[in-house]
Amino acid sequence: MSAGPRPATALPERTATSEPGFPVELQHAVERDLEEIRFDGTAATAGLEEAMRYSLLAGGKRVRPVLALATAEAVGRAPAEVLPLAAALELVHTYSLIHDDLPAMDDDDLRRGRPTCHVAYGEGVAILAGDGLFAEALRLLLERQSGPPERVLAAARELVAAAGVAGMVGGQYLDITDEGGADRESLRALHALKTGRLIGASVECVLLLSGLGEAETAPYRRFAGELGVLFQIVDDILDVAGDEQATGKPLGSDERHGKATYVSVFGLERARALAAESHAGARAALAEAGGETAKLAQVADYILTRRR
Ligand code: IPE
Ligand code: IPE
Ligand code: MG
Ligand code: MG
Ligand code: MG
Repeated sequence: MSAGPRPATALPERTATSEPGFPVELQHAVERDLEEIRFDGTAATAGLEEAMRYSLLAGGKRVRPVLALATAEAVGRAPAEVLPLAAALELVHTYSLIHDDLPAMDDDDLRRGRPTCHVAYGEGVAILAGDGLFAEALRLLLERQSGPPERVLAAARELVAAAGVAGMVGGQYLDITDEGGADRESLRALHALKTGRLIGASVECVLLLSGLGEAETAPYRRFAGELGVLFQIVDDILDVAGDEQATGKPLGSDERHGKATYVSVFGLERARALAAESHAGARAALAEAGGETAKLAQVADYILTRRR
């Protein structure tokens, strides 16, 4: 993996530079870092790298890497120290989006305001671009993340666990098969897996890298768990009541596929109330955590009020 020269180009247009209350300086640091990542391919695999970078650099809110950087700040570390981990989280997330949009999954044609990866490059290349991003994420973390080896390994273990069967992929399975059930508890469990676990890992991996004890980190864990569920409740709301221009993805995707969501199960008004409840839970947990938590609080508020 090599870092090319930093391009002097403007930020991608879909980066939330003007979002109120979002720690944009952390977001910009992530964006610059992602732009520098190269995958060491040959001329023959340049098309694969292009597809990977097409989806990765399409903009996106960068919530997961920003959470990692804000967590570092909260526990007294320099955010820049965890940039490799932060980038790895975004690579895994982008892989999940590419596969989520495939015809065999949600069959969507717009993502981050652009044609989805399979629309632009074909299904086979999109599948490989996702696979490639997942593998390169791990390589990036293992090659570049500084820290005692046992802590880097613990963070890597958490990242892959969060992407695995007891995390994102397991949640996606429940999502497409309807095995999860549609009562309140089952729906929360689905959201905690498919979206919550990777959001949680964005905080958890930094705690592991920092080597802090269980007592100090428990409130952060509760915060991250609630934030993950909140994130997907708001995503469900935006699928119905959002604006395609703002979200950069098609409205009504969940309804088209008869998905069990907070809106389909509880209705829009109750979903909004449950989002507010989750947000309050996340903020209450954060209030119990020591440290410089102002930016984590900003991210939590942003996740509740976001339009994209
Ligand atoms: C969308 O994630 C998919 C979910 C897990 C809900 P984001 O809303 O973080 O999408 P980007 O990264 O900003 O495009
Ligand atoms: C997907 O949930 C969560 C992932 C793990 C990618 P959605 O299918 O609702 O995400 P969007 O709305 O397409 O971004
Ligand atoms: Mg989906
Ligand atoms: Mg989808
Ligand atoms: Mg959605």
